Amino acid sequence: MPTDGLFISFEGIDGAGKSTHIDALAAALRAQGRTVTLTREPGGTPLAEKLRALLLHDAMDPLCEALLMFAARRDHLQQVIEPALARGDAVLCDRFTDATFAYQGHGRGFDLATLTTLERWVQTTPQGRLRQPDLTVWFDLAPEVAARRLAGARVPDKFESQPVEFFRRVAAGYAQRLADDPVRFARIAADQPLDAVRADVMAACGRQAWWREVAA
Ligand code: TMP
Repeated sequence: MPTDGLFISFEGIDGAGKSTHIDALAAALRAQGRTVTLTREPGGTPLAEKLRALLLHDAMDPLCEALLMFAARRDHLQQVIEPALARGDAVLCDRFTDATFAYQGHGRGFDLATLTTLERWVQTTPQGRLRQPDLTVWFDLAPEVAARRLAGARVPDKFESQPVEFFRRVAAGYAQRLADDPVRFARIAADQPLDAVRADVMAACGRQAWWREVAA
């Protein structure tokens, strides 16, 4: 049980279809009487949104990419996430630190031990606790299916335009993060019809100690 608010992150390769379900869960939590802070990474603050624009569109080496991701995360934690959790909000964050391990670590091949050090630096609270989501909802989808969904949908950014092999490594990275911390993760089979995916997300949340049933 979290000591303060509730922190939920949503992960998956590009095209896995997180967004609709984040909105649906936000509505369900509001119906339970919670105040919801909806946010995303990279981004969520004016500074982090500027870094997002650089990260998604400018070429840079993997170390630079990893450092900017964590710089954006630091600002986001300090300005938005920690204050919201201290208020008791439910913070729904579209991607968090698992994305850095999956994309920069497994996708780009950046050193995982260095990422772990950066994670500790950036996510340690003043009380000495390593800030992690209370729950991470991972939309697991085959990279080939995600690529078909993304094809022609919009002008791809730097990550979306990566080849399918890159997303295979990213997906393996998410699987590794789940194996390392199975209690925190809920794996959702994202290749099902929308309603079934939504039902699985709600069921995963319904199994959590913090879930509040609302009388019909
Ligand atoms: P989004 O399109 O889901 O908002 O995510 C932006 C892109 O940034 C997405 O392709 C994944 C990538 N990303 C990383 O590579 N590392 C990270 O740490 C985060 C948060 C996102």
